[in-house]
Amino acid sequence: MENRIELIKTEALEALSQVADAEQIKSLSVKYLGRKGLLTLFLRNISELPAEDRPEAGKQANIVKKELEAAFDAALNRAEARNRENPEDAIDVSLPGRPVTRGTLHPITHVTRQICGIFSRMGFDIAEGPEVETDYYNFEALNIPKNHPARDMQDTFYVSDNIVLRTHTSPIQVHIMEENAPPVRIVAPGKVYRCDSDLTHTPMFHQVEGLLVDTDVSFGDLKGVLEAFVHEMFDETISLRFRPSFFPFTEPSAEVDIVCVMCRGKGCKVCSNTGWLEVLGCGMVHPAVFENVGYDTRKYTGFAFGMGVERLAMLKYGINDLRMFFESDYRFLRQF
Ligand code: DAH
Repeated sequence: MENRIELIKTEALEALSQVADAEQIKSLSVKYLGRKGLLTLFLRNISELPAEDRPEAGKQANIVKKELEAAFDAALNRAEARNRENPEDAIDVSLPGRPVTRGTLHPITHVTRQICGIFSRMGFDIAEGPEVETDYYNFEALNIPKNHPARDMQDTFYVSDNIVLRTHTSPIQVHIMEENAPPVRIVAPGKVYRCDSDLTHTPMFHQVEGLLVDTDVSFGDLKGVLEAFVHEMFDETISLRFRPSFFPFTEPSAEVDIVCVMCRGKGCKVCSNTGWLEVLGCGMVHPAVFENVGYDTRKYTGFAFGMGVERLAMLKYGINDLRMFFESDYRFLRQF
């Protein structure tokens, strides 16, 4: 009951704070305090409340009524004084300003910048590429043959026979190498698209790609760079392991696991009791990819890696529901 009265009061004062013009103030006053006004109706219906609630409700409603009458009178006086003093320009400069709430960076932006910042301090440049790609850049140039499962209609959004929404950030590697002679050292953040949607997959998500090409680049360099990255991103005590894997554009290829940041390797729900979390894919650039961009495979070697930003953000901030990133819920977003 008190809530209802409070609600009428808050609503009335809020509405009043939005108007400055005498006519508007009067019509608001009618809406709340007039013969058929909201507060008047409330007072009139008090007799229908349970007997024990009536005295308190009546008392509260009368207090609020007085408060509102005072607020409307004061507002009206101010408006009329303004009009008398300066009929053309009835703005009350003494009114308190309306607060402007400040936005915050989206957690994905935050983590993307963090990732790029770490690599940029190691000497990597930041690169970008188109989100709509040709079959050639998304697949062919990356040594993904026509019959590879990654090309399945299930995973790829086709714009037309030959044009796709990029399914990973790896095509940026190809653009960069086509346009630059070695040495090359880049990280490339961006949106990627896959025809996949459930609790742990969204049709659009974010990746950061990495590529380093030079003379005498070894798998040891790759390990060192990724270890430095993980230690800065999480902390010094987090160890990594490289598991042999397969990607068409790298040989050898590996997947990198880090010790579970939640349980430190003891085993928990997040790491499915394995103590490890998969965080990225990597490997030594396949000679076929170098040939496609005209790099001399006798002279140059390189490594590449790719990671999912949502996944890293979830681990970094202990977020357990992927959907939070896409719902624009201010209560979630303002925490970052
Ligand atoms: N493009 C891969 C994916 O989306 C990730 C990846 C793996 C990128 C290995 C790389 C790499 O550059 O070397 O799953």
